[in-house]
Amino acid sequence: RFTPRPEDKFSFGLWTVGWEGVDVFGPASRAPLDPVESVRRLADIGAAAVTFHDDDLVPDDATRDHTLERFGKALADTGLRVEMVTTNLFGPPVFKEGALTANNRDVRRYAIAKVLRNIDLAASLGADTFVLWGGREGAEHGASKNVQTALARMAEAIDLFCAYSREQGYDLRFALEPKPNEPRGDILLPTIGHALAFIGALDHADMVGLNPEVGHEEMAGLNFAHGISQALWHDKLFHVDLNGQHGPRFDQDLRFGAGNLRGAFWTVDALLGGGGGRAYDGYVHFDFKPPRSEADGGVWDSARACMRNYLVLREKVQAFRADPEVAAALEAAEVPALDVPALAPGESLADLRAAAHDPAALALREVGMEALDQLAMEHLLGVR
Ligand code: GCO
Ligand code: MN
Ligand code: MN
Ligand code: MN
Repeated sequence: RFTPRPEDKFSFGLWTVGWEGVDVFGPASRAPLDPVESVRRLADIGAAAVTFHDDDLVPDDATRDHTLERFGKALADTGLRVEMVTTNLFGPPVFKEGALTANNRDVRRYAIAKVLRNIDLAASLGADTFVLWGGREGAEHGASKNVQTALARMAEAIDLFCAYSREQGYDLRFALEPKPNEPRGDILLPTIGHALAFIGALDHADMVGLNPEVGHEEMAGLNFAHGISQALWHDKLFHVDLNGQHGPRFDQDLRFGAGNLRGAFWTVDALLGGGGGRAYDGYVHFDFKPPRSEADGGVWDSARACMRNYLVLREKVQAFRADPEVAAALEAAEVPALDVPALAPGESLADLRAAAHDPAALALREVGMEALDQLAMEHLLGVR
């Protein structure tokens, strides 16, 4: 019943199941995973697609051609596709003070070249989406980064990537991934809202959208379902990173459904259109880290659980939305009334102002939202 199917479009980064457990307090607790092995095992558990950073797959030129040949064969054998590609602009020490927004110009030129090479690879593998996560684009010190200039440099680079991709005739869209902090003390474009506003300043704004991550918005204390709903409303939800997080603390990258479970329920609801809006139709991409304490078995348990939790939550959300008592509770809470614009067709502001208003009576009305929320809670708890 909760078996992943190709049409569920589940996708995983090589760096998720392949995470060796290196953290700031200790070295790897797991052995490296060959990307070809990851592709085979992801296909076995029911994923439809795989994603990667350049350095996850082709970290060095000496083995690049051979790796791409083996990887291509594994994709062909399993039917897995590459739907998204991203660039490691945070790990190599050259990017210690930023990549596309480093103060040092040579670093910025190298970062642009690294991305361009990876755009070629993404296009050659048929990816739809190219993610840009600027983990090192930020600062720890007040005067160390001119933020306005850094944003101009970021825009310069993204304009170049879009123009290049267009010139080459590639069919790629770019997706910015916001994160408030970690590894930098403060990262540029820290939230969905910041990134949406930034996109409006780009030359090819139509080619650029978002790849929001559950944990990143929650690290900032924000509501992920609301964030992606706004991105959907702007038609900018190009991709998504699903995972779990326990409130504002370090980036936990838990499996999807762990951490804020109620948030995960509303996240799935928002992806499905939230009872009347635009739905997300891209890949359901998991960006999680199997906890460092797990060995090989636990890695795959957690990967399978991401998909299973999504499917369980989807079933619960659909049951919630189909429940006649929920429909009545939505009606009682006047949720459908929000569809009606404040001003009637042909009505003037003078008409609106002249109408009888009764704020005292309106202040006393029932809003029915606790009853509605309790129905959602009971669907989630499995007692309805
Ligand atoms: C994080 C980020 C990264 C990016 C990935 C794509 O957890 O800090 O999610 O994992 O998604 O590097 O570039
Ligand atoms: Mn994260
Ligand atoms: Mn991510
Ligand atoms: Mn991550």
